[in-house]
Amino acid sequence: MDKFIINGGKKLSGSIDVPCAKNAYLAILAACMLSSGTIVLNKCPQFRDVELMLQILTKLGCKIEKIEDKVIIDCSNATGYEIPQKLASKVRSSIFLLGAIVGKLKKAKVAYPGGCDIGNRPIDLHLKGLRTLNVKIDEKHGFIMCDGSNLKGQTVHLDYPSVGATENIMLCAIFAKGTTQIFNAAKEPEIVDLQNFVVSMGAKVYGAGTSTITIVGVDKLHDTEYTPISDRIIAGTYMIAGATTGCNIEINNVNIEDIYSLITKFNNSSCKISLSNGKIKMLSDKRLKTFGSVETLPYPGFPTDLQPQVMVLQAISKGTCVIVENLFETRFKHVAELVKMGADITVRNRMAIVNGVDKLFGAEVQSYDLRGGAALTIAGLCAYGYTTVNNVEHIDRGYYKLEEAFSSLGADIKRIKDV
Ligand code: UD1
Repeated sequence: MDKFIINGGKKLSGSIDVPCAKNAYLAILAACMLSSGTIVLNKCPQFRDVELMLQILTKLGCKIEKIEDKVIIDCSNATGYEIPQKLASKVRSSIFLLGAIVGKLKKAKVAYPGGCDIGNRPIDLHLKGLRTLNVKIDEKHGFIMCDGSNLKGQTVHLDYPSVGATENIMLCAIFAKGTTQIFNAAKEPEIVDLQNFVVSMGAKVYGAGTSTITIVGVDKLHDTEYTPISDRIIAGTYMIAGATTGCNIEINNVNIEDIYSLITKFNNSSCKISLSNGKIKMLSDKRLKTFGSVETLPYPGFPTDLQPQVMVLQAISKGTCVIVENLFETRFKHVAELVKMGADITVRNRMAIVNGVDKLFGAEVQSYDLRGGAALTIAGLCAYGYTTVNNVEHIDRGYYKLEEAFSSLGADIKRIKDV
């Protein structure tokens, strides 16, 4: 396992670009299985989860070619309908393929998905939604077996606006006969992007970004070239890193409206933020006042994927902050590591009480999941002395060479390769 060694205390300065969104890319790659032609996706980010998803598509018969940052996916022989346990256990979004495969091929056999260990992560809403579309589902020996020979458009009411379930049902309904409506759908920007992508292939999908999505079944789709949206969580990670170290940075290629829930937290703070045309300029040179409270919620609420990072900022801000994690029950594994660095944080069930301290101190810490690992890296950037962050493979799932991104802004951070 690789590790980061960070000599903390360097103020970040300079300019950095945000890549395409991991979560948009993964859903769009799943949607490629609906195609029988060729798809060109631009600006492919080199995240490990994206690489794994491309491996799964190859296994399903897609021919994949990369030309610089373009990925060309020839789906003309994509007739595989089975995702083995070995691949599915590595990336959670393998489950998003279920809807697309059963939609196109009318059958699918997918092993239970893996991904970050941040809680239970059930898939009952995915399966209930697909069953409503008349898909017959058998769960046996660790596999989900689907028969979609009677697939039919229907009304689906989600008990909770799950991102993955919304995406899966949307993809499955594209080739269903008739019209499907998803009520209480997730409204995340990545869902809007998925709709834009499938519409660019000729699908009839409306309403993404609202709580009702309508899908009118079609018989076929056509080729397309598409550029997914930028990654709001990476943009937020850079903002938080800048605020913890003190900074004079410019973050480019940001969909500003997608991270208002974070930007507005800085209102009335000594951190100066200016927003223009896909760009965030941030100037901060003092210890900030606490945000007071942060509660993770489905979009447009505060994203759970920024909760660990924001906790680091609160850990060194003036005052006490209460952070409530509503989405994932074990998404506080970074807390014990932050405490090793001198943070004053107490966890009660889904609530963390963060009393700001003047400084964090370097220590050897373990990254247990993707965003928790990014948070510990930020903690290392602002801590006094040296920090070692172990198991950075978790971080590589959703950031490409995070150490190089932060070095380019003046941080003293290097990766030690496991040999
Ligand atoms: C997606 C994102 C992930 C993000 C999360 C919430 C991808 C690849 N991942 O994950 O980064 O943290 O949205 O914004 O896009 N739930 C159920 N039953 C289900 C499905 C979900 O109870 O069938 C619950 C989950 O346990 C969780 C909540 O719903 O408490 C939200 O999960 P969901 O929106 O489905 O997240 P993912 O799609 O897994």
